[in-house]
Amino acid sequence: MKGAEPGGRRAAPGVNMSEKIFYVTTPIYYPSDKLHIGHAYTTVAADCIARYKRLRGYDVFFLTGSDEHGQKIERKAREKGTSPKEYVDRIVATFKDLWQRLECTNNDFIRTTEPRHEKAVQAIFQKIYDRGDIYKSTYEGWYCTPCETFWLERQLQEGNCPDCGRPVELLKEESYFFRLSKYQDRLLAYIEEHPEFIQPVSRRNEMINFIKGGLEDLCVTRTTFSWGIPVPFDPRHVVYVWFDALVNYLSALGWQDGDEKFERYWPHTVHLVGKDIVRFHTVIWPIILMAAGIELPRTVFGHGWMLLEGGKMSKSKGNVVDPLVLIDRYGVDAVRYYLLRELPYGGDGYYSEDSLINKINTDLANDLGNLISRTFGMLDKYWGGIVPEPGPALAPDGELIETAWEAKSEVERQFERFDFAGALAAVWQLVHRANRYVDETTPWVLARSEEGRKRLATVLYNLSEAVRILTIWCSPAMPVFPPKVWEQFGITDRPELHTWDSTEGWGKLPPGLRIKRGAAIFPRIQEERAGERVAVETGGKDEAPKSPLQEVKASPHAESVPCLEKQGARPEITIDDFARLDLRVAEVLVAERIKGADRLLKLEVDLGGERRTVVAGIAQYYTPEELVGKKVVLVANLAPAKLRGVTSHGMILAAKVEDRLGVLTVERDIPAGTPVR
Ligand code: MSP
Repeated sequence: MKGAEPGGRRAAPGVNMSEKIFYVTTPIYYPSDKLHIGHAYTTVAADCIARYKRLRGYDVFFLTGSDEHGQKIERKAREKGTSPKEYVDRIVATFKDLWQRLECTNNDFIRTTEPRHEKAVQAIFQKIYDRGDIYKSTYEGWYCTPCETFWLERQLQEGNCPDCGRPVELLKEESYFFRLSKYQDRLLAYIEEHPEFIQPVSRRNEMINFIKGGLEDLCVTRTTFSWGIPVPFDPRHVVYVWFDALVNYLSALGWQDGDEKFERYWPHTVHLVGKDIVRFHTVIWPIILMAAGIELPRTVFGHGWMLLEGGKMSKSKGNVVDPLVLIDRYGVDAVRYYLLRELPYGGDGYYSEDSLINKINTDLANDLGNLISRTFGMLDKYWGGIVPEPGPALAPDGELIETAWEAKSEVERQFERFDFAGALAAVWQLVHRANRYVDETTPWVLARSEEGRKRLATVLYNLSEAVRILTIWCSPAMPVFPPKVWEQFGITDRPELHTWDSTEGWGKLPPGLRIKRGAAIFPRIQEERAGERVAVETGGKDEAPKSPLQEVKASPHAESVPCLEKQGARPEITIDDFARLDLRVAEVLVAERIKGADRLLKLEVDLGGERRTVVAGIAQYYTPEELVGKKVVLVANLAPAKLRGVTSHGMILAAKVEDRLGVLTVERDIPAGTPVR
């Protein structure tokens, strides 16, 4: 259907409004310094929604870029003794690199120093001037250079910028003004008629109050510096940096160049912005568009900030967190997941490395990662590595499928309203339900009888299908791990099994697939820093760990793993509890020290045809040579853990008393891989 769309918008010529078209933008960042983890939030969020919409069949255009003009940049460059262009070129290269490292799929990167942008800014400025909404006068008032914002005397707080608290400068210069005041009522009416325009609703209310307080005409040119776009009809003036910057959303689409991108994607637009710049996007920007006769974007979404204990991140406070360091340390998916999960809908979140490690270990390693590795492990162990044909369904199967059904519509509802934390929480409803399903159905018990094996086929199939569906739902937020899951299922070349629509209903995963078990997808993080924290809590850095194995924490899904540091009696367990442990004879093939870790040895062990790496905290008790050739006992199904950068796939058993420790070995010549019961 061509023609009108909800809200009375006009269809661009040649665009079918029922087509699924989506244009998402981030703010264009100031290249005054490298970006920190707070900046990374918006671009990761935009990438997540872009990926989600693409999965839903939308034609998506995702834009980010850099805001390179203005007095702040000119001053910074001068301080560094370089030209503004050389200065920004260097920093912009780091932005592009960061977005690549974060797996962001932006379709374009706009720089405000590009000719295509300068041309668009001059065209729109001229157009508004020709229509009489830009006029010449004299500006006398206050300017905050770090925020590139004009303030009225009455808006200052104790003489400082009300936004950043820094000193403002008194300006008096001949300037051009933009008639914001003329549009006040039209803008208010628009906001009231279009509830989707400013989101979330708290920001909408804030802006309505702000506009009702009265809009003053805005000074939109400067003459006291030159690092900007010259006003086309009076080149002694440069265009105010915010007027210049906002136009990027049009110039990247080739507005004025007759580019079909503009016709196609505008105004199916969502601007994701931080709360501090909602005002620019919901007052100045729509009025620029109204004055130029261009339709307004559909939505401006103002998200909260990622704060540090003690306040805002800022380079001047020296408390910024470099996303690249976190990516190197924890991986892209983990950093993206943390950012999206930690910032509540429209509100602020608090960053700390502790909470990051905690999220990785709890949500990713124990919940999701463990579900995936248990599923592939059990397919391997109990069904010869083949996805079984399911049999008749029983009660827990129905509950699992029902949860998936409910979770799907919740995931979609939350993504559509840009509640990324809410969408991920909905995905985790199924992660939790599926883990509970394993505990309820006890596949290890079913595997023991002929009757049980009939039921086991259905259980293993359902778990496999849950893993497939969850992987698809996670993929907008965490794009790196899904291909690894497809590889383990052997469906890399079956794109129809990776689509969003294939998660509708239950049972699209074809039985009979031969799986290829791979490495753990989300190993636990047991960083040296976490170790230090434990040491501090227990009375000083130099205190020896209570157990050499203490550093490997048990997963909550392996509650019955013996914990050697506590030697007191344990609650009684059943034989089934014990059966959950996969204890194996393992022959040590190689043993070596780990640089910088006095207590750890890295072992390569043979598990009867399978070679594993295991990290053991026994370096104070054994030399590497003493261990090679020994047959030890390994907890083979312990969730993997990362120790000093090495992933340990299992734990060797040892007995310790005071300062003596002995690893458990087997008598007689028992082959490696033999189960220990
Ligand atoms: N150049 C302008 C935007 C122009 S858009 C036409 C600008 N640049 S900025 O680099 O200062 O900020 C870019 C974005 O980063 C803003 O949306 C801001 O809210 C966001 N953030 C800066 N620190 C942040 C956090 N600590 N947490 C989340 N977002 C943060 O403003």
